[in-house]
Order: sequence, then structure tokens, then C-alpha cells
Amino acid sequence: MDFASKIRLIKDFPRPGINFRDITTLLQDGPAFGQVVNALADLCREMKPDIIACPEARGFVLGAPLAYVLGKGLVLMRKPGKLPGKTIACQYQLEYGTDALEVHEGAIRPGQRVLLVDDILATGGTMAAAAKLIQQCGGQVAGIAFLLELEGLKGIEKLGNHQVVTLIKCEA
Ligand code: PRP
Ligand code: MG
Repeated sequence: MDFASKIRLIKDFPRPGINFRDITTLLQDGPAFGQVVNALADLCREMKPDIIACPEARGFVLGAPLAYVLGKGLVLMRKPGKLPGKTIACQYQLEYGTDALEVHEGAIRPGQRVLLVDDILATGGTMAAAAKLIQQCGGQVAGIAFLLELEGLKGIEKLGNHQVVTLIKCEA
């Protein structure tokens, strides 16, 4: 299946000059959504993850079904102030200002192999922070999976030596 054709391109969103890759059109297509999750699972099985972790919000959409298919648990990496228990946080840079991801203390056990999942790799800031947070928690990044990589933004360069798999690549 041509997954790329299922993702809608919306020009000039959220700002003029930005090409927004809208995954909602893919998610609305049952067979395409199912095949995307199965294809990601096939790419990630050999990483032998103990658990899956994914950043809010669009990462949840892929992380949850992937965890289900792989038969593993799921850790939610949330934006600040959303998790009710004690948390560990990692800040990252946005174009203007900073944001952060948090996980519950104890959600990742020391030495656990964690598979990180998100929808899109753009500048790499989100996933670099997510990987750092896993390591702060004592976890090991088993690998990183994306639905789509915007290769022109070179986000992959922020992800060090981690094993990265991506279903669809496009220029920008
Ligand atoms: C988007 C996307 C990735 C991230 C990629 O999330 O879902 O998580 O940006 O960009 P980066 O590689 O430059 O960090 P966003 O923070 O817009 O919010 P959402 O997932 O909550 O919609
Ligand atoms: Mg996101």
C-alpha cells in the first residue's frame, strides 16, 4: 500500500511557508491504519523492546496499537502538568521558547529496553528529548520508530547512534 498518499499535505499551516503533514486522513482509513501499525511492528520486533514509550499527543496514536501488537506495555511521555504522580522531566527547544516531556517516576525500570515511537521526525527536538528522558530514567533506547521522516530537516542527526526505522520518507 502507498502509505504516503494517505497523508494529506496542508500548505501554510500553522504558519505561512510550512507544509503540514496531516496524518488524520491515514488514521481515518481502517486498512491503511492497520497496515501501518503492522508494518512498524515488523520493523521493530528485532529491537526486542521490553516496553514502548511515546510522546504526547500524536505519538500516542501509534504507540498504543504498536504496544498491543507487540504484546508490550506502554509508557506515556506527557507535556508538563498532565501526569498525576511524581515525574521526571526533560526540556527541549522549540522555535520560540521551550517545552518538556515528563514520565512517571518508576515507569521505566533500570536496564529496560525501550522502543520510542512518534508520528513524524522533523527537527528531531522532540525525539532527542524523549531518548534523553528514557536514559535519565535508567532505561536503554532499544530503537526509535517513525511513520514519517522529513529528511530535509536533518532531524536524524539529533538522534545520535540510536537505531531508527521509518516507514515513509519525504524531502520536507
Ligand atoms: C509534532 C509531531 C512530533 C514533532 C516532530 O508534535 O507529532 O512529535 O512535532 O517535530 P520535531 O522533530 O521538530 O520535534 P507536536 O509537538 O506539534 O504536537 P502533538 O504531537 O501534540 O500534535
Ligand atoms: Mg508530536
